[in-house]
Amino acid sequence: MKIKFLGHATFYLEIGDCKVLVDPFIDENPIAEAKAGDFNDIDYIFITHGHGDHIGDTISIARKSKAKVVANPEICSYLRKFDIDIITMQFGSYIKTKFGEVKMVPATHSSSIKVGDDNIYGGLACGYIFKDRESKVYHAGDTGITMEMSLLKDEKIDVALLPVGGHYTMGVQEIDKALELIDPKLFIPMHYNTWDIIKVDIDELKDKYRDKVIVLDIGQEYNT
Ligand code: NI
Ligand code: MN
Repeated sequence: MKIKFLGHATFYLEIGDCKVLVDPFIDENPIAEAKAGDFNDIDYIFITHGHGDHIGDTISIARKSKAKVVANPEICSYLRKFDIDIITMQFGSYIKTKFGEVKMVPATHSSSIKVGDDNIYGGLACGYIFKDRESKVYHAGDTGITMEMSLLKDEKIDVALLPVGGHYTMGVQEIDKALELIDPKLFIPMHYNTWDIIKVDIDELKDKYRDKVIVLDIGQEYNT
């Protein structure tokens, strides 16, 4: 599986023949180098929760590329109005897709969708596990540390994409606990340095987790 970091919680994945975006927050993302307009050929977009830094450019990319958008029922019913192909998911088991299988898993976070000056209910925040023939990749979404993570140990995760910026999500101080609970082979930090409030000394983190961490620069990719 190809995992390309676009900044914040935004990842481009190539799984088998499929092109996938997770939480495509691109044009308003201060650290992104790509443009939403670059993504004309996407098969699936996965959304972890309703916040603007996660729904991001979903609508424009989905309309142009005809990607299927996967999210919880509340986010899907919001998106349905925009003439977008949706796949509603819930916490449960793996579902089959063109690229392999995917499972929605809990995250400890809120979820709402900003519409004008109001916030509408965005269902429950989640993460996803993507599985192809060779590997399992877990995108945690926005989450604090939660005992739910201990259920992921049995999944034998190869690569965990973990938020490390703190304030809104788990931070650097919670990484040890997350690794203990999830026990992934490797992790890729995300959701940091987008704004000052989630600033992290990434070199320090790299030194501390030398054998366990893959720090991707914006636009850099890792192949499982
Ligand atoms: Ni959030
Ligand atoms: Mn966020």
